[in-house]
Amino acid sequence: MDQQTMKQTLEIRKRGVERTLGSCLEHTSIPDSLREAMEYSLLAGGKRIRPVLCLTWARLFGACEEPVLPFAASLELIHTYSLIHDDLPAMDDDATRRGQPSNHVRFGEAQAILAGDGLLTHAFSMMLSVPLQAERVLAAASEVARAAGPAGMVGGQVMDMALTGLGVTEVETLKRMHSMKTGAMLRVSCLSGALLAGAGSAGLEKAKRFGAALGLAFQVADDILDVIGDEQKMGKPVGSDTKHSKLTYPALLGLERSRRLGDSMVQESKEALSGLQSEEADFLTALAKYVMHRTE
Ligand code: IPE
Ligand code: IPE
Ligand code: MG
Ligand code: MG
Ligand code: MG
Repeated sequence: MDQQTMKQTLEIRKRGVERTLGSCLEHTSIPDSLREAMEYSLLAGGKRIRPVLCLTWARLFGACEEPVLPFAASLELIHTYSLIHDDLPAMDDDATRRGQPSNHVRFGEAQAILAGDGLLTHAFSMMLSVPLQAERVLAAASEVARAAGPAGMVGGQVMDMALTGLGVTEVETLKRMHSMKTGAMLRVSCLSGALLAGAGSAGLEKAKRFGAALGLAFQVADDILDVIGDEQKMGKPVGSDTKHSKLTYPALLGLERSRRLGDSMVQESKEALSGLQSEEADFLTALAKYVMHRTE
């Protein structure tokens, strides 16, 4: 599938996600000021890669999109919470996100922390109420909890903070940090879609392998864009990692070797799809390429 066709499919799939995100905080007794802070970051755009991966893996194994949508969208709530907290002065101290002032700049630190907390917990409420077989929903939600939690994204963020400025030179340490802070959520985005669709063990293995490789490529690309990206297109600061002496791929290996590593991860993700002949698999292959060579 060429990149243009992939982007069209991506846009179509994103529409369902945007619709679900736009209404997921309605009819709940959330204080207005908190809802405003949550929606401010949630509805500010974003590539919506995680929900699209969940939907695509669910489709790949024959599920209808509609009942999976709230689960897929909940992954975006968790991701958005992680971005709000990541930008806080105590963490990366970044003042812009998704093309607008970061949540704490707009609403203050306390409200930003609570908006993040609200998004994280509401995500699980959404996940657990999807109208699909309870066993599948529980299995998928349990995997998301693991991926987002201390042995996944939160643990990776702790490693990111702890390793900042230490001058670590082991690529394995960097890889482990990236696999946890970014890879875990991308991997579970694929895995949860496959679980919700009732995929068998071979299918689940493919989802995990594809997601892990894509996850690493995703953060390698993010690190590269922090060096050479366009602030306008990305909607967040460039040079933040260098400013804070972050442990990143370009800092450790340079741009060229980082690109090669990212490309090898894209290749690995493609190999993970072998044996799956469908339009969805073609879409995933093209999406992996986009993730590595994106400019946003
Ligand atoms: C940025 O994620 C943070 C990382 C995990 C690298 P995205 O690049 O997916 O950000 P949005 O959702 O498109 O804003
Ligand atoms: C953040 O990584 C990963 C998260 C879990 C949010 P970064 O700190 O590199 O993400 P950006 O560059 O600020 O989006
Ligand atoms: Mg960070
Ligand atoms: Mg950051
Ligand atoms: Mg970054």
